[in-house]
Amino acid sequence: MACLSAKILYAEDMIPAQDTSGKIICGDTFEIAENLPKGFVDLLILDPPYNLSKNYNGHLFKEKDKADYQEWFQRALMLLTRALKPTASVYVCSDWKTSTLISPVLERHFHVRNRITWEREKGRGAKSNWKNNTEDVWFCTVSDNYYFDVDSVKLKRKVLAPYKVNGEPKDWREERSGNYRLTHPSNIWTDVTVPFWSMPENTDHPTQKPEKLIAKFVLASSREGDFVLDPFLGSGTTAVVSRKLDRNFCGIEINEEYCCWSLKRLEMAASEPAIQGYADGVFWERNSLADQRGAEPQPSRQEKLAL
Ligand SMILES: C[S@@+](CC[C@H](N)C(=O)[O-])C[C@H]1O[C@@H](n2cnc3c(N)ncnc32)[C@H](O)[C@@H]1O
Repeated sequence: MACLSAKILYAEDMIPAQDTSGKIICGDTFEIAENLPKGFVDLLILDPPYNLSKNYNGHLFKEKDKADYQEWFQRALMLLTRALKPTASVYVCSDWKTSTLISPVLERHFHVRNRITWEREKGRGAKSNWKNNTEDVWFCTVSDNYYFDVDSVKLKRKVLAPYKVNGEPKDWREERSGNYRLTHPSNIWTDVTVPFWSMPENTDHPTQKPEKLIAKFVLASSREGDFVLDPFLGSGTTAVVSRKLDRNFCGIEINEEYCCWSLKRLEMAASEPAIQGYADGVFWERNSLADQRGAEPQPSRQEKLAL
């Protein structure tokens, strides 16, 4: 990994705007955020340590009192907000417990527009509690003037009861591998799963997010060429997805080895630009790889709007 670490940016002073694009910055977000240019970010993706004790490759995050976690989170938000454009969107990941702590903080700083809950699919069973199997994502914007492209994040679902009017399919299409409908995405996502060992995107990062999850934020809330910032980059999922979807990006991560993993994944993205579960411009239900392979070309954007 030594050759990769040469590509990491170690920033101690002000970072010129031209130096942020496509960069992985190694360091503490609380120090680096102050040195970022003002007002350059279209989309901020925040996946901070949740309020749980966790060892990130030697960097230990210790569970805090509720008020202390809220203060820590608020400090990060305040530092990062100055980098946002007035039209920017913000997505913040959390587990159910942390979610209750960050929600009032987000309300103070942004327009909170929704809380998405996604099913992790994988989770450890509990003997005297319900298995913890979901995560939340808060969707916020800086102002009422923001971009949202719902057509880019529609879900392609198999139609179980194909309804016809005058012999014609009502809002669905017959294809080689079955009958399908493009549905509006809701705030409960059951088509995503945490990366597991057989997925090419999988790394040893303890809390890696799926590319498919991040792709939904990026497609819905940014245009090609827009700037995406992830100040808790981990294994680099946001950087990789942004590159695959032709967005500019910058990631900050305190752990040098994780920064190297991000760079490695970025190199791999050049030869493997696919995002698992997103094909032909639509998101597919879980475990539908065979159907995706047998799928017919998708309708154009105009046709999608008409569906
Ligand atoms: C929840 S993980 C992010 C995982 C990431 N979304 C991915 O898909 O791999 C949070 C990351 O924040 C990093 N981190 C914690 N405190 C930090 C800080 N003060 N500055 C920068 N990174 C930090 C941790 O090392 C960890 O990799």
